[in-house]
Amino acid sequence: VLYGVVLAGGTGTRLWPLSRAGHPKFLHPLTGTDASLLQATVDRLDTLTSPDRIFVVTGVAHAAAVSRQLAAMPEENVLVEPSPRDSCAAIALAAAVIARRDPEAIMGSFASDHLIADKQEFADVIRRAVVGAREGLLMTLGITPTRPETGYGYLQCGGPVGDGPALRVEEFKEKPSYDVAESYVKSGNYLWNAGMFVWRVDVFLAELARQQPQLAAGVSRIAAAWGAAEQEEVLGEVWPTLPRISVDYAVMEGAASAGRVGTVPGDFGWNDVGDFHTLGEVLTADPAGNVVVGPGSDTERPAVLLRDAENLVVVPGSGRLVAAMGVRDLVIVDTADAVLICPRERAQEVKHLVDQLKELG
Ligand code: GDD
Ligand code: MG
Repeated sequence: VLYGVVLAGGTGTRLWPLSRAGHPKFLHPLTGTDASLLQATVDRLDTLTSPDRIFVVTGVAHAAAVSRQLAAMPEENVLVEPSPRDSCAAIALAAAVIARRDPEAIMGSFASDHLIADKQEFADVIRRAVVGAREGLLMTLGITPTRPETGYGYLQCGGPVGDGPALRVEEFKEKPSYDVAESYVKSGNYLWNAGMFVWRVDVFLAELARQQPQLAAGVSRIAAAWGAAEQEEVLGEVWPTLPRISVDYAVMEGAASAGRVGTVPGDFGWNDVGDFHTLGEVLTADPAGNVVVGPGSDTERPAVLLRDAENLVVVPGSGRLVAAMGVRDLVIVDTADAVLICPRERAQEVKHLVDQLKELG
């Protein structure tokens, strides 16, 4: 049986002002339907496991919203972190809690900021990854790269595991420089790490103990207290001491060097919804290339009015009308307390605006 772990953390600063500390991107309906990214992520697991085996790891500020959006999920399956300590701590906590219930469980870890077009193919790829996980490998899903993206991890592929279709991963390189990424893409021998992992919890925890002993020890203390009266006390004491590091740097790079990582290449229409430009690429555009993001307006009044406009990404949301005329290649985001306008090609840089805003206090 498979356990599903959904990571709902991170603030998604490149999607400001839509994605905010108080209402991060996974809670938003950026999927082209009314479902939020989080709901879509959980929904994708429904043919792979049962609701009682799906866990969400999220911050204390978002636990209530997460439970509200996931009505079918038992409340105790929302694992609440006192503060964000990046993905390794979140995954390790889930692995340790699951291991207490079922020491040989296989878990899949899923990011809540991805769009996936083909749910059926996705489920098939996960089933293939489970085969590699049973063999004791840390499995990751691989995506054929289309550009030298520096925000992703890269997997150097080796030979097949057994009869395939899983491949051995010779090297895992997280977020390379542009030049390195370019050489990887040219070589044709690399896949992007999709940021979704499948492994036996015991195998992952052993590898964590080898590479991140402090994190492993801390998480095992927390898991031992999980569900008991002292849970909050232990969590409050140990959690802030855990290293703040992503699972890619903390475990995957080293595990690959040690020959313990495998990948299943997947072609299921994967997209990381990192910034407004990418979001515009993924969602359906009108004939002029304009994309209006968000659930369809249920009132008579349109949310967006465009004239002579091309290639815009427009995110209405404050309840007032957004109108644009004679402009092209822009991102326009309207929220109750902030409006963003920038060229689509600079959408990646929105995070710097957030930094600037923070400096202002
Ligand atoms: N619960 C929790 N707490 N979740 C977290 C935290 C945290 O402190 N920090 C990050 N996450 C979650 C995010 O919500 C996301 O779902 C996932 O972990 C990955 O974190 P990101 O911050 O989005 O990572 P990334 O996009 O830079 O890189 C990862 O994903 C890429 C593909 O999208 C890496 O795995 C790359 O190798 C990969 O290519
Ligand atoms: Mg991401």
